[in-house]
Amino acid sequence: MTTTREKAGFDTQCIHAGQSPDPVSGAVMAPIVLSSTFAQDGPGGHKGYDYSRAGNPTRTALEACLAALEGAKHGIAFSSGCAATTAVLMTLAAGDHVLVGDDVYGGTFRIFDKVLKHFGVETTFIDMQNPLDVLEAVRPNTRMIWLETPSNPMLKIFDIAAIADVARRRGLKLAVDNTFATPYLQRPLELGADLVVHSTTKYLNGHSDVVGGIVMTSDDELGERLHFLQKTLGACPSPFDCYLVLRGVKTLGVRMRRHIETARAIAEDLTRHPRVARVLYPGLEAHPGHAIAKRQMSGFGGMISFEMRGGLDHATRFLRALRVFACAESLGGVESLAEHPAIMTHASLTAEARQALGIGDGLIRLSVGLEDSEDLLEDLQRGFGASA
Ligand SMILES: Cc1ncc(COP(=O)(O)O)c(C=O)c1O
Repeated sequence: MTTTREKAGFDTQCIHAGQSPDPVSGAVMAPIVLSSTFAQDGPGGHKGYDYSRAGNPTRTALEACLAALEGAKHGIAFSSGCAATTAVLMTLAAGDHVLVGDDVYGGTFRIFDKVLKHFGVETTFIDMQNPLDVLEAVRPNTRMIWLETPSNPMLKIFDIAAIADVARRRGLKLAVDNTFATPYLQRPLELGADLVVHSTTKYLNGHSDVVGGIVMTSDDELGERLHFLQKTLGACPSPFDCYLVLRGVKTLGVRMRRHIETARAIAEDLTRHPRVARVLYPGLEAHPGHAIAKRQMSGFGGMISFEMRGGLDHATRFLRALRVFACAESLGGVESLAEHPAIMTHASLTAEARQALGIGDGLIRLSVGLEDSEDLLEDLQRGFGASA
């Protein structure tokens, strides 16, 4: 890819970064290289690839493309977002302590709470809306800060630059799960984070037909360690999945612009609905993190959570009545999804943790897709009608 501009634009990078026509055939799209092994001229005489767990050309293209989008030197792809998270946490050692944002994906909570604990890594979950609370929670053995912003499912906004400052002052690594925002809206490395994690299952692939993950960093030592963990732990993505994510990410900018536009219309509509007690969307001025989101993001994304009046019965009737939104876990696809965090994505949190965060029986999370906004708005009305 060559442009006369110093740096190609975001959409151009989505389509071309890490890829150039295949030197053998001229194929414009990155070939899916399925071979598990690669011929060598003699022992050790390979052309950059020896075995597909250690490295694969389709995976390299994906890693280079996504690293370019996040402004990272290294991209290290994994077979799921959870595998990417696990690999980052495998850089820690027994006795280390991690500060974790209190509102993270339930599966991420589970890794900290049910797995890392048994390897002697301690965790403190805290609300990071005030960066001073993060500073105060640092212990002598703290090594890492882990956060999601916007968070899942409460859509809290944490100030990445301010928390990166805490991390730098205390010699800690800051890891940001950027799945909800995508590099289209937010680039944590530019704000001072050391590591960015994605579930590529979501917006980056965008079509709900892959489970994948990736870690990005510009720190050479971390990059080398993560490449080592990728080949050693073996949770690497298949070449076909890498190809699908490469294909999906080509339209990331186009999709995000539409996700944002429709999500705003829906969020505003929900604020006016008598059956809605509270709308959580960082694009609304009333959202407590609106000013920070405006500063650190270039748009407010396609995820909305809201609290319905009434109990579980009302929320269940609402979800069962939807015809355009599918009642399903996950997010970031072309199709709209609605889910009940307390029963679905965040069931692995303890009841007390859910209560403390406000994940109650009336909370619904929407992933706003690319359908016509009129159809989505009508569908939500159908849901409210059935819930009454
Ligand atoms: C914010 C976030 N991070 C990580 C994950 C885990 O990703 P995966 O399901 O690809 O393992 C998810 C999954 O829902 C998520 O929402």
